[in-house]
Amino acid sequence: MLDKKCIAIDGPAGAGKSTVAKLVAQALNFLYIDTGAMYRAITLKALRQNLDLQDEESLTQLAKDSIIKLVPGSQQRVLLDDEDVTEEIRSPEVTGQVSTVAKIAGVREVMVQRQREMAQETSVVMDGRDIGTVVLPDANAKFFLTASAEERANRRARELRAKGYQIDIEQLTKEIKERDYMDSNRAVSPLVPADDAITIDSTGMTIEEVVATIIDMVEKGK
Ligand code: DC
Repeated sequence: MLDKKCIAIDGPAGAGKSTVAKLVAQALNFLYIDTGAMYRAITLKALRQNLDLQDEESLTQLAKDSIIKLVPGSQQRVLLDDEDVTEEIRSPEVTGQVSTVAKIAGVREVMVQRQREMAQETSVVMDGRDIGTVVLPDANAKFFLTASAEERANRRARELRAKGYQIDIEQLTKEIKERDYMDSNRAVSPLVPADDAITIDSTGMTIEEVVATIIDMVEKGK
């Protein structure tokens, strides 16, 4: 464990965490772990099975019974029970329901345990909402990446339009704010910066600038 390093990157939806975390991981030769993809995969499975998303017991059992694998590569693939669901977990349906599933304590317990196991195997850059506060409280460096809701909505809209989805920007901004609210106000592991996290507001910054800022701080041992 001693020679393994971990970097935690938390923040709200659309702040650019995954893009930044991937590039930081590449630069440092660490493994990138997208924890949001894990909650998305469970949500997809629950939707497919028509489960009641308020039924905490069934959802916790579903999480326990599911095998989620993150396969590294130029684009990380997400396998749910050996099926590649990389694209499907980004659908508006999953995005609209994932906060409901992610607030269930039992589901979180299962995911957090698996995320800690992954971090024990190799050096990682892990992105999510509770990495610095709950999953890896002893991380070597912690960042809280944020940006205005409007800027985050614009970034998401560009991504989704590129995939062929029709986007109503006002609706998207509203959904982002709602998701922020749910993620920040849930009882279990709410989205808050760890006391020792460095907050970076990426509004108006390029991806490259954010990545360089993080790497610089990691190298300086901040
Ligand atoms: O980062 P994302 O948009 O893919 O995350 C999807 C959802 O999962 C989002 O509503 C917040 C939740 N999540 C979480 O609660 N804890 C994490 N560590 C990662 C994501």
